Amino acid sequence: MRKYNGSSKLLLQPRRTEEVSRVLKYCNSRSLAVVPQGGNTGLVGGSVPVFDEVIINMASMKNVVSFDKVSGILVCEAGCILENLISFLDNQGFVMPLDLGAKGSCQIGGNVSTNAGGLRLVRYGSLHGNVLGIEVVLANGDVLDMLGTLRKDNTGYDLKHLFIGSEGSLGIITKVSILTPPKLSSVNLAFLACKDYSSCQKLLLEAKRRLGEVLSAFEFLDNQSLDLVLNHLEGVRNPLPPSMHNFYALIETTGSDESYDKEKLEAFLLRSMEGGLISDGVLAQDINQASSFWRIREGVAEALMKAGAVYKYDLSLPVEKMYNLVEEMRIRLGDSSKVIGYGHLGDGNLHLNISTPQYDDMILAQIEPFVYEWTSKHRGSISAEHGLGLMKANKIFYSKSRESVQLMASIKKLMDPNGILNPYKVLPHSLSYS
Ligand code: FAD
Ligand code: MLT
Ligand code: ZN
Repeated sequence: MRKYNGSSKLLLQPRRTEEVSRVLKYCNSRSLAVVPQGGNTGLVGGSVPVFDEVIINMASMKNVVSFDKVSGILVCEAGCILENLISFLDNQGFVMPLDLGAKGSCQIGGNVSTNAGGLRLVRYGSLHGNVLGIEVVLANGDVLDMLGTLRKDNTGYDLKHLFIGSEGSLGIITKVSILTPPKLSSVNLAFLACKDYSSCQKLLLEAKRRLGEVLSAFEFLDNQSLDLVLNHLEGVRNPLPPSMHNFYALIETTGSDESYDKEKLEAFLLRSMEGGLISDGVLAQDINQASSFWRIREGVAEALMKAGAVYKYDLSLPVEKMYNLVEEMRIRLGDSSKVIGYGHLGDGNLHLNISTPQYDDMILAQIEPFVYEWTSKHRGSISAEHGLGLMKANKIFYSKSRESVQLMASIKKLMDPNGILNPYKVLPHSLSYS
């Protein structure tokens, strides 16, 4: 996003857990700060060395350790690229319970460290549910082997959850064990247009009610997002005839019975069309067409980066209020910027993005703290799935109470007393070092 510049002089690429351990032990004994780095696709500056931190890049730890075809449990090293794991599992007849636009570069260790959400959370749930175990190296170099492969294990505190989503501030994840569902034979994808946000919302409710067990994604984008993609990404075209629709939804179903699943989706679409919830739509006829629909939704982030500067906000909000924020922001900013809204509607996760030709402090002052105050007022989250990183470490109080943040700071101090792990990220600097 051309927002954060790294300024490290040293990048290390450990090949084994033991090497990560030795590096951390050394750095800890000399109070040298480190920044864990996966695929560097994070959107909040979490993997950037702010000053002179040593980068510990996990790209060389990229082996699959084991895969159990009976239980579907995959154990792999943290540096495995998500897309490689998706292909590996596809060959075995299984799927990753996680998919996102950055899959070609992001690593499973980065995904777990950010508790990434993505496109299929509505079906498979979050990584807090799917990750069964991790191996992690603590700041002092100790290796915590929590690489369990059990579905049920209530013996004491479940410590792995501390590391899922802690953005490299409590330890470096070196291995992950993850529960993967079997690949099902029938996948259908519809690209639909809705006249207004209220119809999108009702469509979501109907999809949950009527597609229930087969629903595997419910994503949305507004007309302004689609325009941006069409204008900035090569080879992408609108699958619907040109007409002024205000919103688009992608609904995917995944099931085991081709004719039953298709019939079910078609009946749902017909009903929604007759009820006026959908104003137009098209069902992907093959896998290539389905990929071209996904390219539109997954391409929004890339199109924004090509368009110029971008102010990104990743918010959890009550679905019925969510789009009011986009509209209010448009009124605030007038013609100075393009305000777009898209995201994981099925999970109540809005991506509010403001695109401008270049970064401008006057525009930023119009956006913040307004966007955080608005979110806080509606009891939303200022960080739904991307993490806090550098961008929002000081904004944590908009979503968490003083007492909760204080406890987080105590945990950080206990686990990383010298503050070497990813400083300036996640927690306010004053609290981490007081
Ligand atoms: P990095 O960016 O390298 O690091 C992210 C954070 O994790 C940093 O704080 C880093 O220090 C830490 N970290 C990395 N590896 C480790 C490790 N092994 N141990 C400890 N800490 C570590 N996110 C979503 O949730 N949903 C989406 O749908 C989504 N779509 C995206 C689409 C695009 C096009 C892009 C560019 C990003 C998207 N993201 C999405 C952002 C998302 O957070 C990441 O893509 C991904 O989870 C980060 O993985 P990474 O390997 O690139 O981590
Ligand atoms: C997405 O859902 O497309 C990603 O989280 C990236 C983004 O927010 O732009
Ligand atoms: Zn997202």
